[in-house]
Amino acid sequence: MRIDIVTIFPTFFDALDISLLGRAREDGILEVEVHDLRTFTHDRHRTVDDKPYGGGAGMVMKPEPWGEALDTILPAEIPDVASGAGPIVIFPSPAGEVFTQAMARELSGASHLVFGCGRYEGIDQRVFDYAGSRASVRLVSLGDYVLNGGEVAVMAMIEAIGRLIPGVIGNPESLVEESHEDGLLEYPSYTKPSSWRGLDVPPVLIGGNHGAIAAWRRDAQLERTRRVRPDLLPPE
Ligand code: ADE
Repeated sequence: MRIDIVTIFPTFFDALDISLLGRAREDGILEVEVHDLRTFTHDRHRTVDDKPYGGGAGMVMKPEPWGEALDTILPAEIPDVASGAGPIVIFPSPAGEVFTQAMARELSGASHLVFGCGRYEGIDQRVFDYAGSRASVRLVSLGDYVLNGGEVAVMAMIEAIGRLIPGVIGNPESLVEESHEDGLLEYPSYTKPSSWRGLDVPPVLIGGNHGAIAAWRRDAQLERTRRVRPDLLPPE
């Protein structure tokens, strides 16, 4: 997969050099390029923002640097956007659709993702409209809270998407039993020692009865989901 990131804080993404995603980049599974939005400005101050038309608080990111960045990154030929072919451009935004494991899985099948990190009060609407004429565009929110900009959200999305790309995680079985994959939260895990500071591992997990272990884990998933995230369960 090819990933392009546009940001005014390129060093935010230095962390993509480490851990599993760093290895995936070394192995050629993931190709990441970070673009500094300010390299697409032409004034002495490398200005990327201006006052909002119509007034209001804060600053809005100007369209021109974004247009040049997108022209550099997106292929010259315009794909049949409606068919879903071609790159997907993702703008993190608290006004977007909420990012989920299902969306991460869907996006992990794409061949080219472009992330545009907004700052200030947002990006001039025409940037989204222009990007939409050249590629599929999605506004995606990490959750119902406001971050200072898109960078942290993009790091989270790249990690969630990247680990689902075949070959990134050594043992793909570990992906099957984790939270959200089957719509439930994951069960609690234990390792040695079986007794620690007066706290014991549930005996069923030590007994070797695989059917009983599977049933215990399923019950634990259901109990935890009911208690912490009842919204994930179908209505009774
Ligand atoms: N930018 C600011 N807040 C955000 C959020 N909640 N999700 C994604 N991007 C954001």
